[in-house]
Amino acid sequence: MTRKIPEETIQQIKQSLDIAEVIGDYVQLKKQGRNYFGLCPFHGEKSPSFSVSPEKQIYHCFGCGAGGNIFSFITEIENISFQEAVGRLAERAGIQLDVPIPGESANRTASREEDRMLEAHELLTKFYHHLLVNTKEGQEALDYLLGRGFSKEDLETFQIGWSLPNWDFTAKFLQKRGFDPEEMEKAGLIIQREDQSYFDRFRGRVLFPLHDEKGKVVAFSGRALGEEKPKYLNSPETPIFNKSRLLYNFHRARQAIRKHRRAVLFEGFADVIAAASAGVEEGIATMGTSLTDAHIHQIKRIAEQVTVCYDGDSAGIQAAFRASEMLSESGCDVKVALIPDRMDPDDYIKKHGAEKFRDHIIGSAMTLMAFKMVYYKQGKNLQDEGQKLAYIEEVLTEIARLKKAVERDFYLRQVAEQFSLSLDALKQQEKQLFMKQRKRRPSGEQTFQPAAAPRTYQRLYPAYQTAERRLLAYMLKNADTAYKVKELMGGEAFNLDEHQAIFTYLLGYYEEGNAPDASAFISFLPDANLRRLVSDIEMMTVGEYVNDEEVHDYIKEVFKHRKVLEIKSMKQQQIAAEKANDYKEAAQIALKIVKLTKEL
Ligand code: GTP
Ligand code: MN
Repeated sequence: MTRKIPEETIQQIKQSLDIAEVIGDYVQLKKQGRNYFGLCPFHGEKSPSFSVSPEKQIYHCFGCGAGGNIFSFITEIENISFQEAVGRLAERAGIQLDVPIPGESANRTASREEDRMLEAHELLTKFYHHLLVNTKEGQEALDYLLGRGFSKEDLETFQIGWSLPNWDFTAKFLQKRGFDPEEMEKAGLIIQREDQSYFDRFRGRVLFPLHDEKGKVVAFSGRALGEEKPKYLNSPETPIFNKSRLLYNFHRARQAIRKHRRAVLFEGFADVIAAASAGVEEGIATMGTSLTDAHIHQIKRIAEQVTVCYDGDSAGIQAAFRASEMLSESGCDVKVALIPDRMDPDDYIKKHGAEKFRDHIIGSAMTLMAFKMVYYKQGKNLQDEGQKLAYIEEVLTEIARLKKAVERDFYLRQVAEQFSLSLDALKQQEKQLFMKQRKRRPSGEQTFQPAAAPRTYQRLYPAYQTAERRLLAYMLKNADTAYKVKELMGGEAFNLDEHQAIFTYLLGYYEEGNAPDASAFISFLPDANLRRLVSDIEMMTVGEYVNDEEVHDYIKEVFKHRKVLEIKSMKQQQIAAEKANDYKEAAQIALKIVKLTKEL
């Protein structure tokens, strides 16, 4: 058994860390008054109902009810045990734990295998890089890369490497270091022949290590030096590599993305690297596949704005259209940076330099609507009356989808001007298209909701429930209040079992000599439901102290509900007695009901 981590250590870890900063690694948070708001990472949502209180050291989602303290957050988001979460946070806080942390050792056999796969990738990354930059065997590849415009620094930063054009160099390298060939085949690094021997997957290719969001190398992508096919050879899907999730450079870009509140999405990783050395550090790319919901989910955790910067050829523009629609539908603020002359970002930077790329391309990215106006022009001859009208209808349909009246007006004016049309006529047609859309999607109210704003929820609870919640909120603030309520309740219980459970735990917590501290109390609770409820109650703003009158009023409310319930059940008894022709009993019950009702 693992020993328990001492309470003082847990407190110490909590005090050394800022909950908003820790959660900020997973959720993009915005300050609003005393609290921070963001999109809840535990359920899909488009307007922020997730809040973090640095003062109270807790978080809570008004949408799905998730809530707790820094430890429960890491436990839930990383799907690990409490002890492991403490371990990770201790490391982050630079605090030494004298207790072994499970998961670091024996109890995860599946991930032992993954650990070895990661270890092999890390080792090979270093070795391939060494071959590229320091050896005669890597010279040709090095010349190729430098010739393409990569700097030595880029090669270092992105740990680019070279795999020798040998059949079994990697296989032998791994075997010599004690890696199990079967496991290494599963990791996608080597392949077994019919005669059971192994050969290397990557031979004579420039290797780009692919990092997961934690910065661990989980796969490689190898580019051919010449025109061989395929141009890029990727690792297959493995237990540690999932193509539809991985975003190239995400781990490095994270900081910049957070700083600029923006991610720049590219098609290829050559573009990411070129952009980074041109000073656009927030670049990421998918692995040559289209954007998935998993990618978007990951991006949205830290960025609110995404600039799509795909190749300038028609395939690139098509792909940019799809990606930006998806991003916009998931609630991202999308911009599109178009590269002229069918170039890709990498080519553009080489030809026009970093400054132009930053200012004229990324800095002048268009709004999604402006991009669509360009997009629908593709392949049309606007001199032709029919094609022109078709174009205008496409654009008006898009304008009708815009949520803000100001925006609609802005683009309508633009169209009017461009084609010398009457603004009124355009407005009318736009309105018709809007009505048509609304009819087509009766459940699409989403589209017409006002822009996202932090929801300050005031859920409506029945009076007794509000009373119990407020009593608990005050008791969480002050031990004396808790004892007073205990006395006034006179051994009676709260109406809601969960409230009663929290009440009981809270008294236990104070009796152990602990000071009021909602976040610490949350750690004290054994049940995730109760933890959530406490975080929810804590998010109500109540003062430090409460006067007796208010407490009495709440308790009255609590008792009143019991009476209401009692009356209800008596009425049923009364009906039952009447049905059984026991009129004497029924009359007696009726008297009791009258008495109770008077008391209310
Ligand atoms: P360079 O030609 O080296 O400049 O590459 P690029 O970045 O211009 O690549 P391109 O626009 O052709 O492709 C964009 C992305 O698609 C690449 O970064 C790869 O992830 C992927 N890709 C391109 N070619 C292949 C291929 O042959 N196989 C695979 N699996 N992926 C590819
Ligand atoms: Mn290119």
